[in-house]
Amino acid sequence: MAENPSPDPKDSNGYVPRDALPAGRREFHFDRSHFDFIAGLLYRLAGIHLAPHKIEMMYSRLARRLRELGLKDFDAYCARLDSEAGEQEIGFLVNALTTNLTSFFREQHHFDHLGQVVLPAVRASQTGSTRPRLRIWSAGCSSGPEPYTMAMVLCDRISDVKRWDARILATDIDTHMVAIARQGVYSSESLKTIPAALRERFTRQAVDASGDRVISMADELRRLITFKPLNLLESWPMRGPFDAIFCRNVLIYFDRPGRMMVIEKFGHLLAPDGFLYLGHSESLYGVSGSFLQVGPTIYRRTAR
Ligand SMILES: C[S@@+](CC[C@H](N)C(=O)[O-])C[C@H]1O[C@@H](n2cnc3c(N)ncnc32)[C@H](O)[C@@H]1O
Repeated sequence: MAENPSPDPKDSNGYVPRDALPAGRREFHFDRSHFDFIAGLLYRLAGIHLAPHKIEMMYSRLARRLRELGLKDFDAYCARLDSEAGEQEIGFLVNALTTNLTSFFREQHHFDHLGQVVLPAVRASQTGSTRPRLRIWSAGCSSGPEPYTMAMVLCDRISDVKRWDARILATDIDTHMVAIARQGVYSSESLKTIPAALRERFTRQAVDASGDRVISMADELRRLITFKPLNLLESWPMRGPFDAIFCRNVLIYFDRPGRMMVIEKFGHLLAPDGFLYLGHSESLYGVSGSFLQVGPTIYRRTAR
């Protein structure tokens, strides 16, 4: 990981050649071998593919982390990742290098579909049942707005939801995000995308440990959700079947084999006619033939 800066960091394809970064202007020396080591680890452990043009992004996000840890350079950071402490550091690494961007009612048409198509279909398929079963999974839930939005739709649309055996599973690889989601406390700014009537009904004013006023999700919603850390590229403990799986804005981080593997497993865990929701820039085109597209980024599992 020797220092070897060059005035022009890009080759003719726009890629940054090995050891050719303008290290002079930086607080920490960082070259292509650091990028390759960290990107390789991220891929092996989290399945996240970082293209070489993300090299600047990697530097700027991890420089902050080096400062926090009081490390003198990226050699020390790579050594830490390579050591026993590296197991704990990987969560911070994923956190720093992926975006956890999310919001309540993000891509509202998915929640309209959930409320208007999926819930009535599940109810109709269990007519006469005293305790209809419903299972929904938020796979890559980030800090929680997605599963809490699902819970609001369920409570709003199913008047007797307490009678139902209804569960929402919310998972993410980033344990820090899972902890925030489980806490279910948000700034009033982030709640603005929730329709006023639902905000009024499902959120509560609260005071946090430091005495600041915060807004907390209602117990009615919390009761429906189980939060768990889960790497989608490792083995999954749950058996399903799920009536709906939301995996939105997560597959973009995986390469094609990773995406294909995850989608195939979703197909196995979905109930016949269960629905899969992807993010606005994602698609199953060329990835799987086991789903029928029924709306923008909404897919129904077809018979196996
Ligand atoms: C952009 S957020 C999407 C949040 C939410 N689904 C939404 O669309 O609003 C992407 C999330 O995927 C998670 N993620 C990335 N790789 C993952 C993996 N291998 N397994 C599980 N979650 C992963 C990240 O931690 C992050 O919280």
